[in-house]
Amino acid sequence: MTRDWTEFLSEEALLRKRSVMAFPKGDVISLAVGLPNPACFPLKGVELDVESPGSQFRKTERIGYTIDTHPDQLVDSCQYMSSRGLAHFDEWVKAYVEKYFLPGYAGWKYLVQSGATQSLDAIFRMLLNPNEDTVLCEKLTYSCFLETCIPFRVKLFSVEMDDFGVVPEKMDELLCGWSAAGSATEGLKKPKVFYTMPTGHNPTGITLSTERRRALMEVCNKHNILVIEDDPYYHLQLDDAANIPSLLKFDVEGRVIRIDSFSKMLMPGLRVSIVTANDLFIDKLSMHNELSIHSASANSQLVLEMIFSKWGDGGFDAWLRHLQSMYRRRRDVMLGAFDRYLPKSLVTYNRPNHGMFIWVNAKLDQFAQPSDSTLKDYEWATHVEDEIFRVASEKYKVILTKGHWFMQDKHTVCSGFRATYAFASEDEMVKGAELFGKAISDVHSSLSG
Ligand SMILES: Cc1ncc(COP(=O)(O)O)c(C=O)c1O
Repeated sequence: MTRDWTEFLSEEALLRKRSVMAFPKGDVISLAVGLPNPACFPLKGVELDVESPGSQFRKTERIGYTIDTHPDQLVDSCQYMSSRGLAHFDEWVKAYVEKYFLPGYAGWKYLVQSGATQSLDAIFRMLLNPNEDTVLCEKLTYSCFLETCIPFRVKLFSVEMDDFGVVPEKMDELLCGWSAAGSATEGLKKPKVFYTMPTGHNPTGITLSTERRRALMEVCNKHNILVIEDDPYYHLQLDDAANIPSLLKFDVEGRVIRIDSFSKMLMPGLRVSIVTANDLFIDKLSMHNELSIHSASANSQLVLEMIFSKWGDGGFDAWLRHLQSMYRRRRDVMLGAFDRYLPKSLVTYNRPNHGMFIWVNAKLDQFAQPSDSTLKDYEWATHVEDEIFRVASEKYKVILTKGHWFMQDKHTVCSGFRATYAFASEDEMVKGAELFGKAISDVHSSLSG
């Protein structure tokens, strides 16, 4: 059973009730609801050409639904639907959550939504009061999360990370001394929620070990903090065979709000995500859906349903293995190019086991500040990063993402870059690494000269 989570709701969420327009379905004559008449929908069939597991995803097969063969699915996908989602797809989602992430408590629920970005926005509105609440995040965190926090006017504070991700003991220390006189958190309200990307972290590519996941949940339990587990890279597992557990597995009372997205495991244009959480939070989110997006796109859900029913049992797992092998190869191409072209005396980079990102870190002790410089250490770190970015983009026409865009605390003494092996061609990755290596060496020479 979950406990009562009402104390975590924002003022906005406390005011949300079921819409009066959420009519019961079933054995009644409805002269009430304002639904368009299905006979007026022009869409009478859908055909998709989709890569098939039988051909190791090398050939496509056609999937066709018509108004005669699949009347319910077709009409439902054109109609307003409950905030829950398309019935057949809903069954797939339930089985998906149970198979991969089964929470450690009974009574959990899930909700189909319109992408992780929309889900995060809705979760923020459900939990946080502007100008009042505090949110914890990792030292390096997703730039869009940081941008989401600004208009929400919430206070942010970050937890130390090392090469293996966020450090639970540091989080415990931070929370034990929270708000103490003279501390950096003096006067801040104790955080309500910790936002984390435990798998293939954006921007570092780091995956939190099972032990750290368990320890992290213990700290959150101890300090009564909710967790938003934003996990779009979960299935992009590149090396180890064993599946890493979601934080939901260690959640025995409904503290974790997990976001899954179809953007990276299938295609972002669908705009479909799944939120799994305790029943109160899912009910509040679905009430919000009723008066905002209504539901995730029914057409997108139909496309997903068509693909998954064609792929059949085992087809989705086969797809994931296919995806993983594509990304593994791309990661290895990029790492090979980095090994060859990046100056090892000036930068380090990691070897991620999940996701799409490699973190390239400038060795700041090799970029010494001139003795007459008046810059503070963090300003110098930013300067080094800016210079490498400028020379790489202007002189060599290659860009990586600046590390400072992912830093909650802009005073962090760190110069780094996020590289992704997801999008560029293999030739571009190799060329890009060579050019970026030259830019790093150029900046090193000019700053030491
Ligand atoms: C950590 C993280 N969350 C969310 C998103 C966005 O996901 P969606 O396309 O489902 O909105 C991304 C995309 O880059 C991401 O890296």
